[in-house]
This record gives sequence, C-alpha cells and structure tokens, in this order.
Amino acid sequence: MKILLENIKLLVQTEDYPVLFRAGEEMSRLTNIPNAFLIIRDEIIEEFGPMEHLKDVYMDDDLLIEIDCSDRLVYPSYCDSHTHLVYPGSREKEFVDRISGLSYEEIAKRGGGILNSAKLLHEKSEQELYNSAMERVIEIIKMGTGAVEIKSGYGLNTKDELKMLRVIRWLRETTPLCIRATFLGAHAIPAEFKNRKSDYVDLVINEMIPQVAGEDLADFIDVFCDRGFFSVEDTERILMAGIKYGLKPKIHANELGKTGGVQAGVKYGAISVDHLEHMGKDEIDALKNTETMPTVLPGAAFFLNMKLSPVREMINAGLPVALASDYNPGSSPSGNMSFISSLGCIKYNMLPEEVINATTINSAYAMGISDRLGSVARGKTANLFITSEIPGIEYIPYSFGSNLIETVILNGEVQTL
Ligand code: NIG
Ligand code: FE
Repeated sequence: MKILLENIKLLVQTEDYPVLFRAGEEMSRLTNIPNAFLIIRDEIIEEFGPMEHLKDVYMDDDLLIEIDCSDRLVYPSYCDSHTHLVYPGSREKEFVDRISGLSYEEIAKRGGGILNSAKLLHEKSEQELYNSAMERVIEIIKMGTGAVEIKSGYGLNTKDELKMLRVIRWLRETTPLCIRATFLGAHAIPAEFKNRKSDYVDLVINEMIPQVAGEDLADFIDVFCDRGFFSVEDTERILMAGIKYGLKPKIHANELGKTGGVQAGVKYGAISVDHLEHMGKDEIDALKNTETMPTVLPGAAFFLNMKLSPVREMINAGLPVALASDYNPGSSPSGNMSFISSLGCIKYNMLPEEVINATTINSAYAMGISDRLGSVARGKTANLFITSEIPGIEYIPYSFGSNLIETVILNGEVQTL
C-alpha cells in the first residue's frame, strides 16, 4: 500500500542529520517545506520533498492513494510522554473544593486526591477500565496524538496495580497508537499504610516490581518523589529495585517543592524527570549533559494554578524540554496536545517551533521511541496528521481550543475519525 500526499505544507526535522532530541537553541530549528509531497509505503515514510521533485520519484502504482492537501499542514503526530489515562472516574468535586480554597496538597492530606481514585479503582473490572480508557484513547487519536505513555498508580496494591498494567497492555494490543507502560506503584501512600510508609515501599520493591517484571507489563518505573509523598531515599530504593528488573526510571519530580527529585532522577539515569515547577540553578545544572529529558506538564500547572516551570531558563541553559499532557482525573483532565502547545507559547514563552519539537521529537525521546517516531524523516513510522486549511505552523498554538485536525494517519493507515 502506498499513499501520496500532494501540495502539502510539511514540517520536517532537518534532513541532513536526524536527531533523537533537540536542546537549547536547536529547539527552534525546524524545516517547513511550503509546497511538498510525501510518500508513505506500508507503515513507513518513504520519501518527501518539494512538489517540483515529485516527478523524479513518482512511480505509477495501482495501489497508490493520492490525497490532495492544498493549504493544509502535515504535522508529525504528537507524542504524549506522560499520562495516567487509565482511571476509574472523574474528580470534579475536588475541582470545586479547590475553587473554594483547598490546595491539591491539602486535599491529598485529607485522604482525597489519588486515594479517591484508588478507592474507586478497586471496584472496577478490567473490562470497565478498558472501556473508559479506550474512549480516551479514541479522543486523543482524534486530537493528533500518535504515541502515548500510560502509568499505573491508582491501584496501590499488587492486585490492582497489575490490573491497571494489564489494561494498558490490552489497549496496546487493540489500538493503532504506540503505547508505552509505566509502573507507578509509588504514586501515593495507601490509607492502609498511613504512618507505615516504609512498609509500603517494601511492598513495592519486594512484591510488586518482581510481578510486574515477571509478566513483562511495564517499560518504565516511576515514583512521585515530592513533599508529602515519597522521599529521595524511598525513590532511590525503588529505582534501584526497578533497574535490577530492567525497568528504566522516569519520575515525577519537583512539582510541590525542591525536594531533590531531579538530582535523584539524573543519578539513576532516568529517561525523563517530569513536572519541574520548582527548579533552581542546582536542578538546571544537574540536568546539563545528561540523558534525562526535562518534561513539563502545562496542563497540570494550568489546572491547579501552580507556579510555572522556568522553561525559558532551561532552554537558555542549553537543555532540551519536552511537553506532555499529564492526562489524569486529578490534576489535568485533558489530553489535548494542541492546547498544551498553546499553553507552551502563551504561558511559557516558547516559540511555535520550540513547542513543536517539545511535543514531538523531545517527548518521543522521553518515552524511548524517538528513533522511529516524533518527526517526519525517511524510514520513520508514518504517524502524521493533516490539518484543515491554515496559514502556517503558528496557527495551531494561536487558535487555542480549536481542533484543526482533519485527517490522522497512524502506522501508514488513514484513520476513520
Ligand atoms: O502527575 N503528581 C502526581 N500525579 C499526577 C496526579 C494524579 C492525580 O491527582 O490523580 C500528576 O499530576
Ligand atoms: Fe503525572
């Protein structure tokens, strides 16, 4: 099967040297070919270039689908490297509690927040969790996401953490999205372990990790390393245990305070450290020249009205930055990556090109898939979306809240939306 897209505005990574992520000044680098073609063969981007070069590569082929995309933009699918999109129900009551003055931390201390979701999750079957998560998966496909990382973390006991991870595996087997799974047993201290946190950490290490790895249910291991949740010491113990079982660290850090999470992530070779609202020079320096992707979650900062991560300072210091949605019922009930792009520009002063690299190639790196996804490059998997008629790349973050996506192609196949 071969697909030919004609007369497109095409966003490509510079052709000369495909990279696994972009950092510092390079984050504003992107090539926009104004009138281009692109050929997809089976799942793969085979060729692209200016329209006038099409006749050199064009071969008559029975199985060729031609799509005329005049005035439309072809964009690499978003890679959403941080979500909790398997969850048992919404938490809008807490939303109202926060409007009335309670903070996210206060709600958590009173046994709400993540523990509310855990209570609800115990009652749900795998089938129910799958059905509701699948609706969210379909929703984000329509909004341009082509790859997503999904965490456990609302089970908080061995049986229910495994249940969540099996749901993620089931989603992976039944959708065209590229899915990566993260084990987040250390998301909160369950009510039964109140004042016995180290016993819970022992349970995560001695029981959960071996079983998760035994069933090969996760790619990454995560810990909510923050004030009131897990300490650096707990985090280090859990990460070491995970690494022994082949799980790469990818952690929640520095959302609620400067608690050493960033440094712990770097020390254990985390593929990403995520949130990063509380960052100083030490945290920025710790991330320099490492393989850890600083990942910012604008949806959570927006929804919880939090202090903003110093994205400009990080980029100016030469760091890469990824943006992800954090889609979850408590702190960011949306997986809309175009809206995340708007927040990147409006709230964090990122240029549209920086936002595109942050939501595609850099976020693909943050989930370990940037060698085959996250940009338009020859030989990469054809995960793309085609917009409606728009003037240029700035138009997507500019028109916040609109869905300008007309056609979605995943693994080289046009999806029915
Ligand atoms: O990334 N910060 C910790 N975990 C999630 C929130 C989960 C929840 O509130 O349900 C986050 O924001
Ligand atoms: Fe999160």
